[in-house]
Amino acid sequence: MKKVITDFNLDNKRVIIRCDFNVPIENGKILDDNRIKESLKTINYAIDNNAKVILLSHLGRIKEEKDKKENDLRPVAKRLSELLNKKVVFVNETRGEVLENTIKNMKPKDVILVQNTRYEDLPGKKESSNDEELGKYWASLGDIFINDAFGTAHRAHASNVGIASNLPSGLGFLMEKELKMLGEKLNNPKRPYVVIAAGAKMKDKIVVIDKLIEKADYVLLGGGIANTFLVAKEIDVKNSIYDEESVSHAKELLKKYPKKIILPVDGLGSLEYKDNLKVYSFDVDSIPDNVMMLDIGKKTIEIFKKYLNNANTVFWNGPVGVNYFKNFENGTKALCEILNKLKAHVIIGGGDSAAAVISLGYKDCFDHISTGGGAALEFIEKKKLPGVEIISDK
Ligand code: 3PG
Repeated sequence: MKKVITDFNLDNKRVIIRCDFNVPIENGKILDDNRIKESLKTINYAIDNNAKVILLSHLGRIKEEKDKKENDLRPVAKRLSELLNKKVVFVNETRGEVLENTIKNMKPKDVILVQNTRYEDLPGKKESSNDEELGKYWASLGDIFINDAFGTAHRAHASNVGIASNLPSGLGFLMEKELKMLGEKLNNPKRPYVVIAAGAKMKDKIVVIDKLIEKADYVLLGGGIANTFLVAKEIDVKNSIYDEESVSHAKELLKKYPKKIILPVDGLGSLEYKDNLKVYSFDVDSIPDNVMMLDIGKKTIEIFKKYLNNANTVFWNGPVGVNYFKNFENGTKALCEILNKLKAHVIIGGGDSAAAVISLGYKDCFDHISTGGGAALEFIEKKKLPGVEIISDK
């Protein structure tokens, strides 16, 4: 059993909490603050227990100097301060005197947010490659380390694994909830167990399908990954996205699991990846020339409904259409409606699926909406995550 935040006396201690504040931000505006909201329980617990709260997170990927501006954590500090109803001091450094002095002057219940940990990826990918010196340095700024960044737990970074290697450590409430929900409900799922896999990250997804299909009774496919399977069945998907490299893998899976893989039979599409053009409706074996499929159609929804209505456990990863285009949100919305009425355990995993379900108004309708994309999938597949394994045992 791993230690958890409630196992520690936090009074007057410098408590470093690693959060996953990797949220979509456009022109300084946060588009989806779910991950921030989900972190509040742990942060508030630390505040209520008189800790000096030092928050760390990455944001985006920092490959060159210009990436820093786009991935500045300042908007998160502002949103967090609103949500906590409390001042959050933003430290625009990831190391050095300003950061050290700010921490030295902290009083119990103070909260600071340190600049994006991945700024340390330039030069030398120190954060992402878990540089030993960096992990030790960040650990030297605190007394206790709490890892609440479930979304990042599949990465071995200096700000999670590195710090935990050098300080007494425990899991936060969000991390506990995620591990419990994903572990308990999906390790021994009540059958029939139906997986919905869709979305655009096709190379990643086919690997995941390969793993999940052994345990699942049915796998319903949508989006680019479904198109890849359609191509494997020699269907001409016209301008729709699919992954050429994954076609032979898809063929193997279709041969091995002919009854388990359920593909779309119809769809909606457009001539371009845009929301304001003519919408075409078609069966998948007669997609009009130059059209790209951007959503599943009505017949497919009815077929998916049949499988879902019988399910006792559902795991959904990836929206089945371009849900942020009004013309192509229907499939994802229809699935939300169907799932909302089920008695089955319904777990939504993946950043895009979580954002889709929340933006379509179904936030409180399911057993669990995971804050992790890759982390959720890796946990279901391997049952272990580096960011969790390193935490002190009870
Ligand atoms: C995520 O959004 O999946 C996590 O925050 C990890 O981000 P990464 O894929 O950039 O490592």
